[in-house]
Amino acid sequence: MSHVWRVGVVTVSDRCAKGERKDEAGPLLKERVKRMDGEVSEYTVVPDEVDAIERTLITLADAEQCDLVITTGGTGFALRDVTPEATKRVIRRNVPGIPEMMRMETRKKTIMSALSRSVAGIRGRTLIVNFPGNPQAIEECFDVIEPLLPHALHLLR
Ligand code: MTE
Repeated sequence: MSHVWRVGVVTVSDRCAKGERKDEAGPLLKERVKRMDGEVSEYTVVPDEVDAIERTLITLADAEQCDLVITTGGTGFALRDVTPEATKRVIRRNVPGIPEMMRMETRKKTIMSALSRSVAGIRGRTLIVNFPGNPQAIEECFDVIEPLLPHALHLLR
C-alpha cells in the first residue's frame, strides 16, 4: 500500500488571520493535496509575523512530523511579506531547485513569477515549500512540483 503523506498547509495573511477576509488559498491547497494521495493533517492561518510563522513551521515539522508543509502568501515585496525569512530560520538544508523551477516554469504564464521570493528546504524529515498567495499561482506552482513530490518525500523517510 502506498504511504499517505502527512501534509501541513499554512496560510500566511494578516487579513485572513483577523477574519477580515476568507481564506481561499488554504482550501485550494488542501484540495490539491488530497488529489495527490496526501492527508492534510494540519491547516492553520497565521499573520505576517516572522515569529508566528517560525513557531508554526517548527510545530508542524517537529511535533506533528509532517512529511510536507506548504505555506501560501507573504513571499512578495511588501514590507510585511516575511514568509521566506521565517522559513530560512527554520530549515536546516536549502532546496533551491524547487522555487527556481516554480518561478521558471510559471514564467511562461506570467512574468510576475519573478516577484515571489519563495524558498524551500528541509528540517529533519520535513520538506517545507513556500507558495505565493494568489490562487492562480497556487494551481500553477502545484502543477510544477506535483510530479517530483513522491520521490522527494520518499527520500526523506
Ligand atoms: N506566480 C505565479 N505562477 N502566478 C502569479 O500570478 N504572482 C506574483 C508572484 N508569483 C504570481 C506568481 C506576484 S504579483 C507576487 S507579488 C508574488 O508572487 C508574491 O505573492 P505573495 O506575496 O502572495 O506571496
